[in-house]
Amino acid sequence: MQDQLKLMIPGPTQVPQTALQALARQPISHRSFEFNAVMAEVTENLQWLHQTQNDVLLLAGSGTAAMEAGIINFLSPGDRVIVGTNGKFGDRWAELGKIFGLEVETITAEWGKPLIAAEFAAKLEADSQKQIKAVIITHSETSTGVINDLETISHHIKNHGQALSIIDAVTSLGSVNVPVDTWGLDVVVSGSQKGYMVPPGLGIVAVSAKAWEAYQTAKFPKYYLDLEKYRLATINNTSPFTPPVNLIVALQTTLRMMQQEGLEAIFARHLRVMKATRAAIRSLNLSLFAQDDYASPAVTAIKLHFANAIASQLEADKIREVVKKRFDIEIAGGQDHLKNKIFRIGHLGFICDRDILTCISALEAALLELGYQDFTPGAGITAAIKVFQTQI
Ligand SMILES: Cc1ncc(COP(=O)(O)O)c(C=O)c1O
Repeated sequence: MQDQLKLMIPGPTQVPQTALQALARQPISHRSFEFNAVMAEVTENLQWLHQTQNDVLLLAGSGTAAMEAGIINFLSPGDRVIVGTNGKFGDRWAELGKIFGLEVETITAEWGKPLIAAEFAAKLEADSQKQIKAVIITHSETSTGVINDLETISHHIKNHGQALSIIDAVTSLGSVNVPVDTWGLDVVVSGSQKGYMVPPGLGIVAVSAKAWEAYQTAKFPKYYLDLEKYRLATINNTSPFTPPVNLIVALQTTLRMMQQEGLEAIFARHLRVMKATRAAIRSLNLSLFAQDDYASPAVTAIKLHFANAIASQLEADKIREVVKKRFDIEIAGGQDHLKNKIFRIGHLGFICDRDILTCISALEAALLELGYQDFTPGAGITAAIKVFQTQI
């Protein structure tokens, strides 16, 4: 039944009931005191979630709109930037930069592996003329389930002194610790459909004082995505254009939920579901695409490579199809060259232990249905339960 579909993809994520109710209400005027009060609360709580005193601005658009805003507001044509790419979303930054005429230099790692922080240090240290204007990194690389070492890389960027850090935190904010001020991050972009537990449609951009300085001399033309307009409007608890008011009211409810839970508890929950998922996958004798020490708490990618003859004929998309058809659970496929080679279980946002048990049960049943027998039925569930027993 379509109505019961459960999303276990890395976004859009499941939406809690209170947020659904907010979405179902009549829109309010965006030029009303009522909306001003919502904006004031949402802005304050977004700052809390980002652990920042900086501006945090809301755009109508998906995460990619926030990425584009992160480039055109703070850089100029011909600027030299370093882009870290180890997956689809790192590649997207490089594409964006090139389209806008930046001089893009990439630091790459194989898909499924993390970026090497020392390579950033080397490039930044070699830049004695201070020509590098920005370093652009994807924190949690959703396409591969890898988390990059943002803390160390941002430390190297700070040591450079001039370059801005422009960070994609689309699948890390709200599930992983991203202490924006402590790490000195300049521009941090994210999207509502991930850890925020709200449907797609809002892009979120945090901007440091140093980034605003760069804004003063940045030369790309901009109108709808001109962040200064959003900064001025946000001071007055409003929005420069007609915003998706219902999404913002829904975000008000989910931020309240997050505050009640607390940052530490949110991060611990994501780590717990990640560990349970990974333990389960191992017990099913399937391969994890990313190793433990750089596994993203938001999403786990599973690679199909089996010793077993029947199982070696399994296709990732077939597994996903059976899980969906028989159990109404949507899990994600691989992207680009990983299509049909991996599948991904999203476990971020409105996610709990029960969701993991349900998803792993469905996966076990689907594997059995497809003739894969290289595991003891129930082994995945048992492994997940063991994690839940030790990590409460
Ligand atoms: C890490 C990352 N960056 C950027 C994006 C792009 O966001 P959107 O699809 O909302 O434009 C996504 C979407 O999944 C993502 O996971």
